[in-house]
Order: sequence, then structure tokens, then C-alpha cells
Amino acid sequence: MGSRLPLFPDQASTFASEVDALYLFLVALTVFFSVLIAGTILYFAIKYRRRSEDERPPTIEGGLALEFTWTIVPFLIAMFIFGWGAQVYFRQFRAPDDATEVWVVGKQWMWKVQHLGGQREINELHVPVGRAVKLIMTSEDVIHDFYVPAFRTKRDVLPNRYSTLWFRPTRTGVFHLFCAEYCGTKHSGMVGSVYVMEPADYQQWLTGGRAEGSLSEQGARLFQDLACDNCHREDGRGRGPRLEGVFGTTVLLDNGQRVTADETYLRESILNPGAKIVSGHQNIMPTFQGLVTEEDLIRLVEYIKSIGPKVEAPPGETAPAAATPTQR
Ligand code: CUA
Repeated sequence: MGSRLPLFPDQASTFASEVDALYLFLVALTVFFSVLIAGTILYFAIKYRRRSEDERPPTIEGGLALEFTWTIVPFLIAMFIFGWGAQVYFRQFRAPDDATEVWVVGKQWMWKVQHLGGQREINELHVPVGRAVKLIMTSEDVIHDFYVPAFRTKRDVLPNRYSTLWFRPTRTGVFHLFCAEYCGTKHSGMVGSVYVMEPADYQQWLTGGRAEGSLSEQGARLFQDLACDNCHREDGRGRGPRLEGVFGTTVLLDNGQRVTADETYLRESILNPGAKIVSGHQNIMPTFQGLVTEEDLIRLVEYIKSIGPKVEAPPGETAPAAATPTQR
């Protein structure tokens, strides 16, 4: 379909045919019932029209079977649509574990993209065909919305938190990227292009523009520059909690609650350290609000994600690679 039917954008991700099938089903269903109802009204209006001035229609008492039918049939149709839609939605909501992660920062009025290797782009996103790509997105100002029609997916990009979006491109090419949430004067100009490339070309592209090192390497430097390592010590004797291996784990807080140490939690703990105090620690960390940019936060988060747990080396062996920052 796609290019042959000019009303539809290209189909360029695994979601495209799923979303289009659901959409076309809804259109067909709507057309079917619209025609059925309009046709029935017309037919009855003619068939049961008043034929003379003194005609008195018979009293109708209602039909139980009929009422059950027109209640149960729409209910079943609605539940079928709900089940189908939920299936498509959940597939779009949960990114596969092996997805390539890319950071996106929206601001009035541009998209800033950062790859894990340190490559940056503005209003452009280069991805390999056939691989799952997960975007971790935030905004520097107002709400934006990352939308690629050819991939049939979009997600709001919010300030003060990270939202994710994933897709698996099915063909190479250049596809439109839009902001789908009104965000000010130049909202309509907040557009860009997604370049879906052959894996070899993508590797070639990746080798350019990484002078500053990978995001986690940049984060490691920043971690030292900001003196985070004074308190967050690897040996666990610092005044702050140990950060090695914390990412993705469940953290017990001093109020008894538990939180998952995801990107949003790490971000909040840098900007508003008092919000969630790790059990056994004091509220002594200063806020870094205003001292670090959105990009700095991404670097720090990537650094913390990259430091795995310090594994004790068995006697006679050297420490395994898990202790060194690895690129995820
Ligand atoms: Cu950003 Cu609309």
C-alpha cells in the first residue's frame, strides 16, 4: 500500500502495517455502520410512511431480543477493538532489551540528538535498518512530541523527565520527523529527517564526530570535575551511596519506599537530591540545578549506567572487565 495510496505515508517500520491494519479496520467498520444506519433510516422512512390522514400506527411494546442484540453486538465489537488496540499499543510501549539507545533533547525549536558513541546531530537522526532503536527523550523547555509518520509512532517529550520511544525501521531512506505538540511560534518549523541506513553505511557514519569520546567517557570526566567522586566512592565508604551497578536495580529509600533506579530517578537525584533519599544516607547532597545542562545530565546518567558492579576478582585472576566503564 504505502506509496501507492497517496493518503498514507510510507510504511517504514514494523509498526506501520500493524497500525494501518487497525486503522483500516476502524474505517471499514465506520463505513459499514454508517451505510447500514443511514440506509435503514431511509428504508423505514419510506416503508412506514403515513399513507392517509386518519392512519393510527399500532402500539409497539418493545422487543427484548432486539435490545439484547443491539447491546451485546456493539459491546463485543468494542472489546475486540480494545483488545487489538491494546496489543499494538503495548508492542510500541515496551522496547526490546537489545535496542540501540539514542538520546534526544527537544527545545524551542529543534531536536538535539546524541548517540552513545558521542556523535551529535541536530534535526537529523541516523539509524541502521532492521535494528531496534530506543530513543530516551527529554525537553529543555515545554512539551514537544517526537513523531515519525512513516514509522507510525510518536511520543510526548516532557521537561523534567525522560520518556522513551522505540521502532525498528524496515527499509532504508529518509523520512520526515515532526513535532506533534504545539510548542510555540515556530512549532511548525520543528522538523527534521530520519536517515535509515544499511548497517555498513551506519557503521561508517558512526566513525565520524566522536572527538569528545563516548557519552559515558564524557560523563566520567564530568563526574570528576563536579567532584561527585568525593562522596560517591567506589569502596562504599563515601558519604553518598555507591553508584556502581545501581542502574536498573531497586533502591530502598529512607521512607521505606522502593524505586527503580532508571534514567529519570538518576536525573532527579542530581537535580533534586532530597526528593528520594537512599536508606541509610543523609540529605546532604547539594542540588546541581542550574550547574548542569540537559546534555551534562545525559552524560552523567550514561556514566552511571556504564559502571557495572565491582566484581571481586578470584585469587590469581585479574579484575574482570565489568569494573571498567563499558559502552552499552
Ligand atoms: Cu516542539 Cu511543537
